[in-house]
Amino acid sequence: MAADPTLVPSIFKPESTPADAIHQLSLFTLAITGGIFAVVFCLIAYAAIRFRRRANDDGKEPPQVYGSGPVEMAWTVVPLVIVAVLALATARVIQEVQNAPRPKSALDVQVIGHQWWWEIRYPKLGIVTANELHVPVSNSRKRAPTFMELLSADVAHSFWVPRLAGKTDLIPNRVNHMWMEPTRTGLFLGQCAEYCGTEHAKMLLRVYVHTPDDFERWVNEQKAIATGDPKVAAGRLVFERTACINCHTLNGTVGNGRFGPDLTHLMSRETLGSGALKNSPENLRAWINSPSEFKPGVLMPAMNLPATELDQLVAYLATLK
Ligand code: CUA
Repeated sequence: MAADPTLVPSIFKPESTPADAIHQLSLFTLAITGGIFAVVFCLIAYAAIRFRRRANDDGKEPPQVYGSGPVEMAWTVVPLVIVAVLALATARVIQEVQNAPRPKSALDVQVIGHQWWWEIRYPKLGIVTANELHVPVSNSRKRAPTFMELLSADVAHSFWVPRLAGKTDLIPNRVNHMWMEPTRTGLFLGQCAEYCGTEHAKMLLRVYVHTPDDFERWVNEQKAIATGDPKVAAGRLVFERTACINCHTLNGTVGNGRFGPDLTHLMSRETLGSGALKNSPENLRAWINSPSEFKPGVLMPAMNLPATELDQLVAYLATLK
C-alpha cells in the first residue's frame, strides 16, 4: 500500500519536531563517520598503491618505528575527541526530546500494543479506535503536539512512524512516553519495530494528520453513537449472539471485549487487520470468514457462519461509519 512516494516512511524526510531533530543528528553523525571513512579509505589506498610489491623488491622489511609519542598521542586523542563530540550531540537531542515541555494545548493519546494490532484511546475525548491514529497538525500560532502513553497487552512492541518521531518500545507492565508534533497534514505510515511474533510484519500503523477543523470533525464523528438502522437489525443480532462480543467492543451493543479492536466506528477506518487489507464490505466479509487467509497466525478465529448470517452481519457492520 506504500506505492505512493509521498508515503514512503523515511527518517530522511521528517515532517514533525522530534523526527526533525533526529534527522539533523543523523546527518551530523553521517558527516563525521563519512569523513572518517574517507580519510581511512584514502590512507589505505595510498599505502596499498605506493608501497605495493615491486619486481625489484629486495625482500627486506622497511624501517620500523617503535614507541612514537606523537603518533600514539594522535590516535588516542583524535578518536576521543570524535567520540566525545558524537556523545554530547546525541545527549543533547535525547534531552531535548525527552524533557520537552508539554503545552496545555497538547492532545493525550494512549497506545496499547497487542498481537498484532494497535489499540488507540483518547481518554479525555472518550474515543477508542485501532491501528489508525488521528492527530491535529501543529503550527507556530497554534501548537498541537500529541503526547502518547505507550503500553502493551502482551509482549514487547515498538511504535515507529519514521517521519514523525523516533521509535519507542511498548513494554508489558510499564508505561513509556513519547510525543510528536507534525507540521504538515497528510497520511504517514509506520509499523511495529520490535519482533513480537508471527504477524509482526503485519502490525502496520497509519497516522492521519488533520487541519484543526478536520480533526474536530473526526472527533465528533467518533463520539457519535452508531444509530442502529432497523434494516440491519438481523446482522446486529448475529453479532450479539456469536463469539464476536467476547473480543470486540461495539458501543450500543452487549459487546465489550477488549481482546480485539473496538468496532464502534469500524467503517471509518481504511484498513482491516492492522493494515493487512483494505477496508470494504467485500473484504470485511472475506476477513470474518477466514482471517488467517490474509494474516496467517492471526488470533481472530474463522467464524464459520452460514452465508445468510455472514451477509447479515456484514450488512450491519458496514453501517458503522
Ligand atoms: Cu508488534 Cu512487532
